[in-house]
Amino acid sequence: MDARKLNETAQSMVAGDKGLLAMDESTPTANKRFAAAGIPQNEETRRAYRDMIVTAPGLGDCLNGAILVDETIHQKTTAGVSFAQALAKVGIIPGIKVDAGAKPMAAHPDEKITHGLDGLRERLAEYAALGARFAKWRAVITFGDRIPSDACIDANALILALYAALCQEAGLVPIVEPEVLMDGDHTMERCAEVTERTQHALFAQLVAQGVLLEGIILKPNMVVPGLKCPHQNTNEEIADATVQCLLRTVPAAVPGVTFLSGGQSGELASARLSAMNARFKGRMPWALAFSFARAIQEPAMQIWHGEDANVPAAQKALVHRARCNVAARRGEYTSAMEKQ
Ligand code: G3H
Repeated sequence: MDARKLNETAQSMVAGDKGLLAMDESTPTANKRFAAAGIPQNEETRRAYRDMIVTAPGLGDCLNGAILVDETIHQKTTAGVSFAQALAKVGIIPGIKVDAGAKPMAAHPDEKITHGLDGLRERLAEYAALGARFAKWRAVITFGDRIPSDACIDANALILALYAALCQEAGLVPIVEPEVLMDGDHTMERCAEVTERTQHALFAQLVAQGVLLEGIILKPNMVVPGLKCPHQNTNEEIADATVQCLLRTVPAAVPGVTFLSGGQSGELASARLSAMNARFKGRMPWALAFSFARAIQEPAMQIWHGEDANVPAAQKALVHRARCNVAARRGEYTSAMEKQ
């Protein structure tokens, strides 16, 4: 393991005011989103959509990195270069999602465990040869009657740590993503309790498995009330609860925290990230950035609609959302930016 190189890559992933773009929807998820937007669902439309993303003018000013998926890292852009090369050319570090998805957990109804460790060492070597410099693995923690269980939290934490150790062995920075879902009617306080428990378990396992904390990125959920909770907190309350949870659980050695959006609207995700950076400026030991998928891509996907003629407008919408999040990193996002 090259500790210096891993730390340098992790630092570059959260450098300045930029963030990460997750464009790593699995084929079923990408197809589901295309179907909802009335876009044909096949390999070529997925390639053309992602070509629209990586060729968006100005994207490199907003992103340090982008997370690809197995299909895309093996495809070429319309200009005939690999997606990893196209990203690297505009200064965006290519990364790759390597988990095989969250599947039902045996003996734990309604809970999930993420698969994909089998053959991971070999796949990581292949992805590194294709140009990836970091990887991502997502674990899912669900709310419900007497869940999440300790069994689910602990098993996912161990698997995340085993994945992270394999990544570092291969010279790739692991993004560790323990996502506490927004589905449910739970309160923000309950989300804080579960997120704290999940992150404590995760860091205990990362340390136990010998993972270099200076060479990882944490990709957590924000601490928010469930989507069906009757009381929806203010952005400031969410900012305070989220940063308090991170300060209690994330060691200062970790270079950065890059949030998932989890189904929040683009505007809310930007506003909440901005509130955190504004309210805790100078009081956090790690960079607080973004690694959104839906909160950056959604408007662009609707505008693109599978039509070449819509590419420039879709690219504008994509870069607009990315710019809003750059402002949020500085704590300077305002809703007025949406009218620009
Ligand atoms: O694993 C999930 C993605 O990387 C983030 O997606 O921002 O739409 O939640 P999201």
